[in-house]
Amino acid sequence: MRMDQKLRAEVKEEMAKHKDCVEKDPYRLHYHLMPPVGLLNDPNGFIHWKGTYHLFYQWMPFKTEHGAKFWGHYTSKDLVNWQHEEVALTPAEWFEKNGCYSGSAIEHEEKLYLFYTGNVKDEHGQRESYQCLATSEDGFHFEKHGPVITLPEGFTAHFRDPKVWQQDGRYFMVVGAQTESLKGAIALFQSGDLRDWTFVRTLTGGDSGALANFGYMFECPDLFHLDGKDILIFSPQGIEPDGMKYNNVYQAGYTVGTFAPETGEYEHNEFVELDRGFDFYAPQTTIDEQGRRLLFAWMSVPDQNEQQHPTIKHKWIHTMTIPRQLQLKGDKLYQIPAKELERLRTHDAVIDDVVLNNEVKQINGVNGQSIELFMEDIEIEAGWFDVTISDAARIIYSSEQRVLTLERKSYVNGIVEKRQCKLEQLRDARLYIDTSSVELFVNDGEEVFTTRFYPTKDNEDVVFGASEKCRFSVKKWTLAKVF
Ligand code: FRU
Repeated sequence: MRMDQKLRAEVKEEMAKHKDCVEKDPYRLHYHLMPPVGLLNDPNGFIHWKGTYHLFYQWMPFKTEHGAKFWGHYTSKDLVNWQHEEVALTPAEWFEKNGCYSGSAIEHEEKLYLFYTGNVKDEHGQRESYQCLATSEDGFHFEKHGPVITLPEGFTAHFRDPKVWQQDGRYFMVVGAQTESLKGAIALFQSGDLRDWTFVRTLTGGDSGALANFGYMFECPDLFHLDGKDILIFSPQGIEPDGMKYNNVYQAGYTVGTFAPETGEYEHNEFVELDRGFDFYAPQTTIDEQGRRLLFAWMSVPDQNEQQHPTIKHKWIHTMTIPRQLQLKGDKLYQIPAKELERLRTHDAVIDDVVLNNEVKQINGVNGQSIELFMEDIEIEAGWFDVTISDAARIIYSSEQRVLTLERKSYVNGIVEKRQCKLEQLRDARLYIDTSSVELFVNDGEEVFTTRFYPTKDNEDVVFGASEKCRFSVKKWTLAKVF
Protein backbone atom coordinates (compact mmCIF):
# COMPACT_ATOMS: atom_id res chain seq x y z
CA MET A 1 0.00 0.00 0.00
CA ARG A 2 2.78 2.42 0.95
CA MET A 3 4.50 1.76 -2.36
CA ASP A 4 1.25 2.45 -4.21
CA GLN A 5 0.87 5.82 -2.50
CA LYS A 6 4.47 6.73 -3.12
CA LEU A 7 4.15 5.93 -6.83
CA ARG A 8 0.92 7.92 -7.11
CA ALA A 9 2.56 10.95 -5.52
CA GLU A 10 5.51 10.64 -7.90
CA VAL A 11 3.20 10.52 -10.91
CA LYS A 12 1.44 13.71 -9.79
CA GLU A 13 4.76 15.42 -9.29
CA GLU A 14 5.97 14.37 -12.72
CA MET A 15 2.78 15.64 -14.36
CA ALA A 16 3.05 19.01 -12.63
CA LYS A 17 6.74 19.34 -13.35
CA HIS A 18 6.43 18.89 -17.11
CA LYS A 19 2.93 20.25 -17.77
CA ASP A 20 4.11 23.45 -19.48
CA CYS A 21 6.77 21.75 -21.53
CA VAL A 22 4.29 19.12 -22.77
CA GLU A 23 1.57 21.63 -23.54
CA LYS A 24 3.88 23.87 -25.52
CA ASP A 25 4.56 21.15 -28.06
CA PRO A 26 3.04 22.19 -31.42
CA TYR A 27 2.73 18.47 -32.21
CA ARG A 28 0.31 17.89 -29.30
CA LEU A 29 -2.85 16.54 -30.86
CA HIS A 30 -6.19 18.32 -30.60
CA TYR A 31 -8.66 15.47 -30.27
CA HIS A 32 -6.66 12.28 -29.72
CA LEU A 33 -5.92 10.67 -26.36
CA MET A 34 -2.33 11.27 -25.30
CA PRO A 35 -0.36 10.80 -22.08
CA PRO A 36 -0.19 13.93 -19.87
CA VAL A 37 3.55 13.21 -19.68
CA GLY A 38 5.75 10.24 -20.60
CA LEU A 39 4.93 7.32 -22.86
CA LEU A 40 1.54 5.88 -23.79
CA ASN A 41 1.10 2.52 -25.47
CA ASP A 42 -1.71 -0.05 -25.63
CA PRO A 43 -5.38 0.68 -24.96
CA ASN A 44 -6.48 -1.43 -21.96
CA GLY A 45 -9.71 -2.28 -20.16
CA PHE A 46 -11.91 -0.58 -22.75
CA ILE A 47 -15.51 -0.81 -21.51
CA HIS A 48 -18.80 1.10 -21.58
CA TRP A 49 -19.95 0.72 -18.00
CA LYS A 50 -22.97 2.37 -16.41
CA GLY A 51 -23.14 4.99 -19.16
CA THR A 52 -19.44 5.88 -19.07
CA TYR A 53 -16.71 4.82 -21.46
CA HIS A 54 -13.57 3.84 -19.58
CA LEU A 55 -10.36 3.60 -21.51
CA PHE A 56 -7.27 2.63 -19.57
CA TYR A 57 -3.86 2.69 -21.18
CA GLN A 58 -0.30 1.49 -20.76
CA TRP A 59 1.55 4.42 -19.25
CA MET A 60 5.17 5.12 -18.35
CA PRO A 61 4.87 8.53 -16.66
CA PHE A 62 8.54 8.96 -15.75
CA LYS A 63 10.25 8.81 -19.14
CA THR A 64 9.52 8.62 -22.86
CA GLU A 65 10.61 4.98 -22.94
CA HIS A 66 9.05 1.67 -21.99
CA GLY A 67 9.44 0.38 -18.43
CA ALA A 68 7.38 -0.65 -15.40
CA LYS A 69 3.98 0.33 -16.76
CA PHE A 70 1.04 1.90 -14.94
CA TRP A 71 -2.56 1.82 -16.06
CA GLY A 72 -3.52 5.38 -16.93
CA HIS A 73 -7.23 6.09 -17.10
CA TYR A 74 -9.52 8.21 -19.28
CA THR A 75 -13.33 8.41 -19.06
CA SER A 76 -15.94 9.84 -21.39
CA LYS A 77 -19.69 10.02 -21.81
CA ASP A 78 -19.55 10.56 -25.57
CA LEU A 79 -16.22 9.32 -27.01
CA VAL A 80 -15.33 12.93 -27.80
CA ASN A 81 -14.79 14.72 -24.48
CA TRP A 82 -12.47 12.83 -22.16
CA GLN A 83 -11.44 13.28 -18.58
CA HIS A 84 -8.03 12.16 -17.40
CA GLU A 85 -8.54 10.30 -14.12
CA GLU A 86 -6.22 9.24 -11.31
CA VAL A 87 -3.90 6.38 -12.14
CA ALA A 88 -5.86 3.10 -11.97
CA LEU A 89 -3.02 0.61 -11.34
CA THR A 90 0.52 1.20 -10.13
CA PRO A 91 3.23 -1.50 -10.34
CA ALA A 92 3.47 -1.62 -6.56
CA GLU A 93 3.23 -5.34 -5.66
CA TRP A 94 5.69 -8.22 -6.08
CA PHE A 95 3.59 -9.88 -8.80
CA GLU A 96 3.66 -6.77 -11.06
CA LYS A 97 6.80 -5.00 -9.95
CA ASN A 98 8.11 -4.59 -13.52
CA GLY A 99 4.82 -3.44 -14.93
CA CYS A 100 1.04 -3.74 -14.84
CA TYR A 101 0.95 -4.88 -18.44
CA SER A 102 -2.00 -4.91 -20.83
CA GLY A 103 -5.38 -6.44 -20.14
CA SER A 104 -9.12 -5.99 -20.24
CA ALA A 105 -12.24 -5.12 -18.24
CA ILE A 106 -15.56 -6.86 -17.67
CA GLU A 107 -18.57 -6.18 -15.47
CA HIS A 108 -19.55 -8.76 -12.86
CA GLU A 109 -22.12 -8.36 -10.09
CA GLU A 110 -22.18 -4.58 -10.46
CA LYS A 111 -18.40 -4.39 -10.13
CA LEU A 112 -15.69 -3.65 -12.64
CA TYR A 113 -13.18 -6.47 -12.98
CA LEU A 114 -9.79 -5.72 -14.52
CA PHE A 115 -7.56 -8.53 -15.75
CA TYR A 116 -3.97 -7.59 -16.52
CA THR A 117 -0.52 -9.09 -16.71
CA GLY A 118 1.84 -8.73 -13.79
CA ASN A 119 5.26 -8.51 -15.39
CA VAL A 120 8.17 -9.55 -13.18
CA LYS A 121 11.86 -9.74 -13.91
CA ASP A 122 13.90 -11.49 -11.28
CA GLU A 123 17.40 -10.50 -10.24
CA HIS A 124 18.91 -12.52 -13.14
CA GLY A 125 16.68 -10.77 -15.69
CA GLN A 126 14.44 -13.87 -15.97
CA ARG A 127 10.85 -12.96 -16.83
CA GLU A 128 7.81 -14.16 -14.88
CA SER A 129 4.26 -13.52 -15.93
CA TYR A 130 1.08 -13.54 -13.81
CA GLN A 131 -2.46 -12.88 -14.97
CA CYS A 132 -3.89 -10.71 -12.21
CA LEU A 133 -7.26 -9.43 -11.07
CA ALA A 134 -8.28 -6.06 -9.65
CA THR A 135 -11.89 -5.09 -8.87
CA SER A 136 -13.71 -1.84 -8.31
CA GLU A 137 -17.11 -0.71 -7.04
CA ASP A 138 -16.91 2.75 -8.60
CA GLY A 139 -14.64 2.29 -11.61
CA PHE A 140 -11.97 4.58 -10.16
CA HIS A 141 -10.50 2.86 -7.08
CA PHE A 142 -9.22 -0.65 -7.53
CA GLU A 143 -8.59 -3.43 -5.09
CA LYS A 144 -5.90 -5.85 -6.21
CA HIS A 145 -6.46 -9.58 -5.74
CA GLY A 146 -3.13 -10.71 -7.18
CA PRO A 147 -2.50 -13.52 -9.67
CA VAL A 148 -5.40 -15.73 -10.77
CA ILE A 149 -3.40 -17.58 -13.42
CA THR A 150 0.21 -18.69 -13.38
CA LEU A 151 2.07 -19.90 -16.43
CA PRO A 152 0.64 -23.15 -17.88
CA GLU A 153 2.96 -25.83 -19.24
CA GLY A 154 4.19 -25.53 -22.79
CA PHE A 155 4.65 -21.77 -22.88
CA THR A 156 7.50 -19.36 -22.18
CA ALA A 157 7.06 -16.40 -19.83
CA HIS A 158 6.11 -14.26 -22.83
CA PHE A 159 2.54 -14.81 -21.78
CA ARG A 160 0.39 -11.70 -21.42
CA ASP A 161 -2.52 -9.40 -22.26
CA PRO A 162 -5.63 -11.28 -20.98
CA LYS A 163 -8.93 -10.42 -22.69
CA VAL A 164 -12.04 -11.72 -20.95
CA TRP A 165 -15.60 -12.16 -22.19
CA GLN A 166 -18.79 -13.95 -21.17
CA GLN A 167 -20.47 -16.51 -23.39
CA ASP A 168 -23.00 -19.33 -22.77
CA GLY A 169 -23.05 -18.74 -19.03
CA ARG A 170 -19.28 -18.86 -18.50
CA TYR A 171 -16.25 -16.70 -18.86
CA PHE A 172 -13.45 -17.09 -21.35
CA MET A 173 -10.02 -15.54 -21.49
CA VAL A 174 -7.53 -15.34 -24.35
CA VAL A 175 -3.89 -14.66 -23.54
CA GLY A 176 -1.08 -13.73 -25.94
CA ALA A 177 1.64 -16.35 -25.81
CA GLN A 178 4.82 -17.93 -27.05
CA THR A 179 5.11 -21.71 -27.06
CA GLU A 180 8.22 -23.47 -25.75
CA SER A 181 9.11 -24.06 -29.41
CA LEU A 182 9.19 -20.24 -29.70
CA LYS A 183 6.07 -19.89 -31.84
CA GLY A 184 3.41 -17.24 -31.46
CA ALA A 185 0.16 -18.61 -30.01
CA ILE A 186 -3.01 -17.76 -28.15
CA ALA A 187 -3.96 -19.58 -24.97
CA LEU A 188 -7.61 -20.08 -24.03
CA PHE A 189 -8.90 -20.34 -20.44
CA GLN A 190 -12.36 -20.67 -18.96
CA SER A 191 -13.95 -19.92 -15.62
CA GLY A 192 -17.32 -20.02 -13.88
CA ASP A 193 -16.65 -17.16 -11.49
CA LEU A 194 -13.77 -15.08 -12.91
CA ARG A 195 -11.48 -16.25 -10.10
CA ASP A 196 -10.79 -19.95 -10.77
CA TRP A 197 -9.47 -20.40 -14.28
CA THR A 198 -8.68 -23.58 -16.22
CA PHE A 199 -6.51 -23.82 -19.28
CA VAL A 200 -8.60 -25.13 -22.18
CA ARG A 201 -6.24 -25.29 -25.16
CA THR A 202 -4.12 -23.35 -27.59
CA LEU A 203 -6.74 -21.45 -29.53
CA THR A 204 -4.52 -20.91 -32.56
CA GLY A 205 -0.84 -20.62 -33.48
CA GLY A 206 2.00 -22.76 -32.15
CA ASP A 207 3.25 -25.70 -34.19
CA SER A 208 0.07 -26.78 -35.94
CA GLY A 209 -3.16 -25.54 -37.45
CA ALA A 210 -3.97 -22.59 -39.68
CA LEU A 211 -1.52 -20.23 -37.95
CA ALA A 212 1.32 -22.68 -37.36
CA ASN A 213 4.78 -21.11 -37.38
CA PHE A 214 3.36 -17.62 -37.81
CA GLY A 215 5.97 -15.54 -35.98
CA TYR A 216 7.44 -15.96 -32.50
CA MET A 217 4.92 -14.12 -30.30
CA PHE A 218 1.28 -13.06 -30.42
CA GLU A 219 0.37 -10.03 -28.31
CA CYS A 220 -2.94 -8.48 -27.29
CA PRO A 221 -5.55 -11.03 -28.44
CA ASP A 222 -9.23 -10.15 -28.55
CA LEU A 223 -11.96 -12.62 -29.56
CA PHE A 224 -15.53 -11.45 -30.18
CA HIS A 225 -18.70 -12.16 -32.07
CA LEU A 226 -19.64 -9.79 -34.88
CA ASP A 227 -22.34 -10.13 -37.50
CA GLY A 228 -22.56 -13.91 -37.22
CA LYS A 229 -18.82 -14.65 -37.13
CA ASP A 230 -16.12 -14.84 -34.49
CA ILE A 231 -13.29 -12.42 -35.04
CA LEU A 232 -9.90 -12.85 -33.45
CA ILE A 233 -7.74 -9.73 -33.37
CA PHE A 234 -4.11 -10.00 -32.30
CA SER A 235 -0.67 -8.50 -32.85
CA PRO A 236 1.89 -11.05 -34.09
CA GLN A 237 5.64 -10.49 -33.96
CA GLY A 238 8.24 -12.06 -36.23
CA ILE A 239 6.41 -11.99 -39.57
CA GLU A 240 8.60 -11.23 -42.58
CA PRO A 241 7.55 -8.53 -45.08
CA ASP A 242 5.68 -10.01 -48.04
CA GLY A 243 5.28 -7.52 -50.90
CA MET A 244 2.93 -4.78 -49.69
CA LYS A 245 2.06 -6.77 -46.57
CA TYR A 246 3.72 -6.81 -43.16
CA ASN A 247 6.07 -3.86 -43.69
CA ASN A 248 6.04 -2.58 -40.13
CA VAL A 249 8.28 -4.15 -37.50
CA TYR A 250 5.24 -5.89 -35.96
CA GLN A 251 1.70 -6.35 -37.27
CA ALA A 252 -1.87 -6.06 -36.03
CA GLY A 253 -4.68 -7.90 -37.73
CA TYR A 254 -7.50 -10.42 -37.55
CA THR A 255 -8.91 -13.74 -38.57
CA VAL A 256 -12.58 -14.50 -39.21
CA GLY A 257 -14.00 -17.83 -38.11
CA THR A 258 -16.21 -19.81 -35.77
CA PHE A 259 -15.54 -20.34 -32.08
CA ALA A 260 -17.12 -23.36 -30.38
CA PRO A 261 -17.50 -22.56 -26.64
CA GLU A 262 -18.06 -26.26 -25.74
CA THR A 263 -14.69 -27.38 -27.02
CA GLY A 264 -12.77 -24.12 -27.31
CA GLU A 265 -12.03 -24.84 -30.95
CA TYR A 266 -11.66 -21.94 -33.32
CA GLU A 267 -11.81 -22.60 -37.06
CA HIS A 268 -10.70 -19.59 -39.01
CA ASN A 269 -9.35 -18.23 -42.26
CA GLU A 270 -6.12 -16.37 -42.94
CA PHE A 271 -4.67 -13.42 -41.07
CA VAL A 272 -5.38 -9.98 -42.55
CA GLU A 273 -3.82 -6.70 -41.45
CA LEU A 274 -6.28 -4.28 -39.91
CA ASP A 275 -4.45 -1.16 -40.98
CA ARG A 276 -2.09 -0.40 -43.86
CA GLY A 277 -0.26 2.59 -42.38
CA PHE A 278 2.94 3.03 -40.37
CA ASP A 279 1.52 3.35 -36.88
CA PHE A 280 -1.08 0.93 -35.60
CA TYR A 281 -0.68 -1.76 -32.95
CA ALA A 282 -2.30 -3.60 -30.03
CA PRO A 283 -5.93 -2.74 -30.89
CA GLN A 284 -8.60 -3.56 -28.33
CA THR A 285 -12.37 -3.63 -28.75
CA THR A 286 -15.46 -3.50 -26.60
CA ILE A 287 -19.17 -3.75 -27.25
CA ASP A 288 -20.88 -0.62 -26.02
CA GLU A 289 -24.34 -0.08 -24.55
CA GLN A 290 -25.68 0.64 -28.04
CA GLY A 291 -24.39 -2.73 -29.25
CA ARG A 292 -21.58 -1.31 -31.38
CA ARG A 293 -18.21 -3.05 -31.55
CA LEU A 294 -15.74 -0.20 -30.98
CA LEU A 295 -11.98 -0.26 -31.33
CA PHE A 296 -9.07 1.82 -30.12
CA ALA A 297 -5.47 1.11 -31.07
CA TRP A 298 -2.12 2.47 -30.11
CA MET A 299 -0.91 4.78 -32.89
CA SER A 300 2.60 3.41 -32.98
CA VAL A 301 4.47 0.11 -33.15
CA PRO A 302 7.02 -1.09 -30.56
CA ASP A 303 10.71 -1.06 -31.50
CA GLN A 304 10.10 1.12 -34.58
CA ASN A 305 12.42 4.14 -34.13
CA GLU A 306 10.40 5.22 -31.13
CA GLN A 307 13.15 7.32 -29.64
CA GLN A 308 13.40 9.49 -32.74
CA HIS A 309 9.97 11.10 -32.39
CA PRO A 310 10.37 14.90 -32.12
CA THR A 311 7.83 15.05 -29.27
CA ILE A 312 10.40 13.51 -26.94
CA LYS A 313 12.01 16.85 -26.25
CA HIS A 314 8.61 17.91 -24.92
CA LYS A 315 8.58 14.97 -22.49
CA TRP A 316 5.82 12.90 -24.06
CA ILE A 317 5.37 10.30 -26.81
CA HIS A 318 2.53 8.52 -28.64
CA THR A 319 -1.22 8.70 -28.94
CA MET A 320 -4.29 6.51 -29.39
CA THR A 321 -6.18 6.30 -32.68
CA ILE A 322 -9.64 7.80 -32.85
CA PRO A 323 -12.37 5.38 -31.73
CA ARG A 324 -13.64 3.30 -34.64
CA GLN A 325 -16.67 1.13 -35.18
CA LEU A 326 -16.17 -2.31 -36.69
CA GLN A 327 -18.45 -3.89 -39.28
CA LEU A 328 -18.10 -7.21 -41.03
CA LYS A 329 -18.87 -7.28 -44.75
CA GLY A 330 -18.41 -10.79 -46.14
CA ASP A 331 -15.20 -11.87 -44.45
CA LYS A 332 -13.70 -8.40 -44.39
CA LEU A 333 -13.56 -6.12 -41.36
CA TYR A 334 -14.45 -2.52 -42.09
CA GLN A 335 -13.57 0.32 -39.74
CA ILE A 336 -15.41 3.61 -39.67
CA PRO A 337 -14.87 6.56 -37.32
CA ALA A 338 -17.31 6.49 -34.38
CA LYS A 339 -20.33 8.59 -35.33
CA GLU A 340 -19.88 10.85 -32.30
CA LEU A 341 -16.74 12.31 -33.87
CA GLU A 342 -19.04 14.41 -36.06
CA ARG A 343 -19.47 16.52 -32.94
CA LEU A 344 -15.90 17.68 -33.34
CA ARG A 345 -16.92 19.68 -36.40
CA THR A 346 -16.86 23.34 -35.43
CA HIS A 347 -18.39 24.95 -38.53
CA ASP A 348 -20.43 24.00 -41.52
CA ALA A 349 -18.42 22.21 -44.14
CA VAL A 350 -16.58 23.95 -46.92
CA ILE A 351 -17.87 22.12 -49.99
CA ASP A 352 -16.58 22.07 -53.53
CA ASP A 353 -16.76 20.06 -56.72
CA VAL A 354 -13.36 19.67 -58.22
CA VAL A 355 -12.11 18.79 -61.68
CA LEU A 356 -8.40 18.31 -62.19
CA ASN A 357 -6.77 18.10 -65.59
CA ASN A 358 -3.12 17.14 -65.32
CA GLU A 359 -2.59 19.80 -62.63
CA VAL A 360 -2.30 20.46 -58.91
CA LYS A 361 -4.78 22.61 -57.08
CA GLN A 362 -5.47 24.05 -53.65
CA ILE A 363 -9.08 24.78 -52.78
CA ASN A 364 -10.09 27.87 -50.92
CA GLY A 365 -10.78 27.02 -47.27
CA VAL A 366 -9.73 23.39 -47.65
CA ASN A 367 -6.71 23.31 -45.39
CA GLY A 368 -5.88 23.25 -41.67
CA GLN A 369 -3.99 21.51 -38.91
CA SER A 370 -6.86 19.69 -37.35
CA ILE A 371 -9.51 18.84 -39.92
CA GLU A 372 -11.79 16.20 -41.37
CA LEU A 373 -11.73 15.88 -45.15
CA PHE A 374 -14.19 13.83 -47.13
CA MET A 375 -13.78 13.19 -50.83
CA GLU A 376 -16.54 11.30 -52.60
CA ASP A 377 -17.76 10.38 -56.06
CA ILE A 378 -14.13 10.13 -57.05
CA GLU A 379 -13.76 9.45 -60.77
CA ILE A 380 -10.30 8.98 -62.16
CA GLU A 381 -10.31 8.71 -65.94
CA ALA A 382 -6.72 7.48 -66.12
CA GLY A 383 -3.39 7.77 -64.33
CA TRP A 384 -3.19 8.75 -60.70
CA PHE A 385 -4.84 11.08 -58.22
CA ASP A 386 -3.09 12.41 -55.13
CA VAL A 387 -3.59 14.52 -52.01
CA THR A 388 -0.61 16.07 -50.23
CA ILE A 389 -1.02 17.09 -46.61
CA SER A 390 1.17 19.81 -45.13
CA ASP A 391 3.93 18.78 -47.53
CA ALA A 392 4.70 15.89 -45.17
CA ALA A 393 2.28 13.09 -46.12
CA ARG A 394 0.79 12.14 -49.46
CA ILE A 395 -1.94 9.76 -50.55
CA ILE A 396 -1.79 8.46 -54.10
CA TYR A 397 -4.20 6.22 -55.94
CA SER A 398 -3.03 4.69 -59.19
CA SER A 399 -6.03 3.71 -61.29
CA GLU A 400 -3.79 1.63 -63.54
CA GLN A 401 -2.03 -0.40 -60.86
CA ARG A 402 -5.08 -0.27 -58.58
CA VAL A 403 -2.80 0.49 -55.69
CA LEU A 404 -3.31 2.95 -52.85
CA THR A 405 -0.13 4.44 -51.38
CA LEU A 406 0.55 6.50 -48.29
CA GLU A 407 3.86 8.34 -48.24
CA ARG A 408 5.35 10.32 -45.42
CA LYS A 409 8.59 12.09 -44.74
CA SER A 410 10.40 9.91 -42.23
CA TYR A 411 10.84 11.54 -38.84
CA VAL A 412 14.19 9.78 -38.60
CA ASN A 413 15.90 11.21 -41.71
CA GLY A 414 13.32 13.10 -43.82
CA ILE A 415 13.45 10.49 -46.58
CA VAL A 416 10.08 9.61 -48.12
CA GLU A 417 8.83 6.17 -47.09
CA LYS A 418 5.66 4.42 -48.14
CA ARG A 419 3.01 1.85 -47.28
CA GLN A 420 0.65 0.40 -49.85
CA CYS A 421 -2.27 -1.89 -50.50
CA LYS A 422 -4.25 -3.20 -53.42
CA LEU A 423 -7.56 -1.44 -53.97
CA GLU A 424 -9.87 -2.24 -56.87
CA GLN A 425 -11.42 1.21 -56.95
CA LEU A 426 -11.18 4.43 -54.96
CA ARG A 427 -14.70 5.69 -54.43
CA ASP A 428 -14.32 7.83 -51.35
CA ALA A 429 -11.73 8.84 -48.79
CA ARG A 430 -12.25 10.27 -45.33
CA LEU A 431 -9.27 11.79 -43.59
CA TYR A 432 -8.89 12.70 -39.95
CA ILE A 433 -5.88 14.99 -39.68
CA ASP A 434 -4.69 16.14 -36.26
CA THR A 435 -1.45 18.23 -36.16
CA SER A 436 0.87 15.19 -36.26
CA SER A 437 -1.40 12.30 -37.23
CA VAL A 438 -3.39 11.15 -40.23
CA GLU A 439 -6.08 8.46 -40.31
CA LEU A 440 -7.38 7.63 -43.77
CA PHE A 441 -10.58 5.59 -44.24
CA VAL A 442 -11.28 4.59 -47.84
CA ASN A 443 -14.50 3.28 -49.36
CA ASP A 444 -16.41 3.56 -46.11
CA GLY A 445 -13.77 1.75 -44.09
CA GLU A 446 -12.69 -0.99 -46.50
CA GLU A 447 -9.05 -0.02 -45.97
CA VAL A 448 -7.51 2.20 -43.30
CA PHE A 449 -4.08 3.83 -43.14
CA THR A 450 -2.95 5.29 -39.80
CA THR A 451 0.21 7.28 -39.39
CA ARG A 452 2.08 9.91 -37.39
CA PHE A 453 3.75 12.66 -39.39
CA TYR A 454 5.58 15.82 -38.49
CA PRO A 455 4.91 18.73 -40.85
CA THR A 456 7.04 21.84 -40.64
CA LYS A 457 5.54 24.59 -38.53
CA ASP A 458 2.54 26.41 -39.99
CA ASN A 459 2.26 24.26 -43.08
CA GLU A 460 -1.45 23.52 -43.21
CA ASP A 461 -1.82 23.10 -46.96
CA VAL A 462 -3.85 20.43 -48.67
CA VAL A 463 -2.89 20.05 -52.32
CA PHE A 464 -4.83 17.91 -54.78
CA GLY A 465 -3.29 16.61 -57.99
CA ALA A 466 -4.00 14.36 -60.97
CA SER A 467 -1.76 13.06 -63.72
CA GLU A 468 -4.69 13.09 -66.15
CA LYS A 469 -8.33 13.83 -65.60
CA CYS A 470 -10.04 13.32 -62.28
CA ARG A 471 -13.17 14.69 -60.62
CA PHE A 472 -14.56 14.46 -57.09
CA SER A 473 -16.47 16.43 -54.54
CA VAL A 474 -14.81 17.50 -51.32
CA LYS A 475 -16.03 18.53 -47.88
CA LYS A 476 -13.83 19.90 -45.15
CA TRP A 477 -14.57 20.56 -41.51
CA THR A 478 -12.35 22.27 -38.96
CA LEU A 479 -12.27 20.10 -35.84
CA ALA A 480 -12.46 21.27 -32.26
CA LYS A 481 -9.55 21.23 -29.83
CA VAL A 482 -10.63 18.87 -27.06
CA PHE A 483 -7.25 18.49 -25.32
C1 FRU B 1 2.14 -4.49 -26.65
C2 FRU B 1 2.78 -4.84 -25.32
C3 FRU B 1 1.98 -5.87 -24.57
C4 FRU B 1 2.37 -5.63 -23.16
C5 FRU B 1 2.50 -4.13 -23.11
C6 FRU B 1 3.56 -3.62 -22.19
O1 FRU B 1 2.52 -3.22 -27.11
O2 FRU B 1 4.10 -5.28 -25.52
O3 FRU B 1 2.20 -7.20 -25.00
O4 FRU B 1 1.42 -6.09 -22.24
O5 FRU B 1 2.80 -3.73 -24.45
O6 FRU B 1 3.50 -2.22 -22.12
